[in-house]
Amino acid sequence: MTENISPAPSSAHRSQLSCIGCGVVCEKTEQNFRCASCGDLLEIVYPGWKSSLSDAAVLKALWRQRRTSGLPVDESGVWRFRELLPSFHDWQQIITLREGNTPLNEMPGCARVAGLQQLYAKHQGMNPTGSFKDTGMTMAASVARREGFRWVACASTGNTSASMAAYAARGGMRSLVLIPEGKVSWGKLSQALDYGAVTCQLKTDFDGCMRLLNEVVQRMPVYLLNSVNPYRLEGQKTAAIELIEQFDWQPPDHVIVPGGNLGNSSALGKAFLEMKQLGFISRLPKISIIQAAGANPLVRTMRENGGKTLVAVQAETAASAIRIGNPASWKKAVRILQATGGAVEQVSEVEIALAKAEIGADGIGCEPASAVTLAGLKKLVKQGFVKAEESVVLILTGHLLKDPEFTLRFHRGDLFTGTEREKEAGILKHQQRAPIVLDATMEAVIRTLKEADDRLET
Ligand code: F0G
Repeated sequence: MTENISPAPSSAHRSQLSCIGCGVVCEKTEQNFRCASCGDLLEIVYPGWKSSLSDAAVLKALWRQRRTSGLPVDESGVWRFRELLPSFHDWQQIITLREGNTPLNEMPGCARVAGLQQLYAKHQGMNPTGSFKDTGMTMAASVARREGFRWVACASTGNTSASMAAYAARGGMRSLVLIPEGKVSWGKLSQALDYGAVTCQLKTDFDGCMRLLNEVVQRMPVYLLNSVNPYRLEGQKTAAIELIEQFDWQPPDHVIVPGGNLGNSSALGKAFLEMKQLGFISRLPKISIIQAAGANPLVRTMRENGGKTLVAVQAETAASAIRIGNPASWKKAVRILQATGGAVEQVSEVEIALAKAEIGADGIGCEPASAVTLAGLKKLVKQGFVKAEESVVLILTGHLLKDPEFTLRFHRGDLFTGTEREKEAGILKHQQRAPIVLDATMEAVIRTLKEADDRLET
């Protein structure tokens, strides 16, 4: 399978690890993926790449042609773009679940509520384990196995752990998961268990889990699979390439991304910058990052000091995936905001719940953290930052079924019961569809149908 599909890496796509702080090139990575000189994060760079339009045209055709191939490395929506990724000498070494290849859907109902002529959602929740994490995990887990690790590990709000556990299992590695007790949805927790991870629920938050894991990896031969691992972001960047391909290489005006640990926005931004540099696109979309108001370190960092030093916060939000107060990749995200001219915005718990129901009402659905994108977009339109006729893509990061408890509580109307938000939550009523308990008779069902029809007419 190897020779004819994957020529040996040429100097043009040999990759290096470089520090985003001091720029030093790292020959050997530390266990915590920090620069040995200055402690900052690393990123993958490709010094041999040259900008050339004809190269771009050849690659576009090659990537499209691979869609008809039955080889695992071509069927993966990540590895299909392998010319822009670190190279593997033997493609049989990669661990793939055929990730990527996610749909781009038009969202007519959401466009209306946001005040736009047209709106799209790229649903990264349609990945094999139900979140965008799979696109990064195929890459970083493959590196872990190539380097001979028996154990991989992550701290997580749930999706990273689900994804890591799956790829570790497929790759014959063992996995260690650290999650905050009581703050991970059942769907995600059950995935980690099913895929065989050693799952530790710690009496702390995500930031506490991350701190602890950084110490563990210094002491034990365990490969860190959080998004400080730059290979994760290289895999995740392919979602942006795939997105632009779906738009026939015409970039949208805006891409709206949820912000948690800030790896994903950094990864997508890196891809757009690289595609521009390589001549795949002629202009950059603006990448805007939306956070929950209760977990808003990037918003505060940008507003209070223009992105110079991180303002960490004590995070609290029911969108548990992004309940993060001390995001590792904040500097990378600031760079992307500045390079693309995007905005940061924050949204309330009620705004998140409403937006999630509106995304559901378009027949798509997502988990709460993904819904911050629509909630934030509405604000950006009101502010005039996004114009009615501009093209906009929401990045939906997780599947609706990741957190069914949130959805059930929303529709039953008790998501905000007994909280200070109860009054504000009145605006959610028209979206709520609680299940109806009936006698098992035809009359009861027909009566309910007629009542619903009358209600929906008005
Ligand atoms: N959306 C979902 C569904 C997530 O699971 C996450 C992060 C984000 C958005 C934010 O992405 O961290 O790259 O800015 N989840 C991580 C986890 C932290 O452990 O699953 P980010």
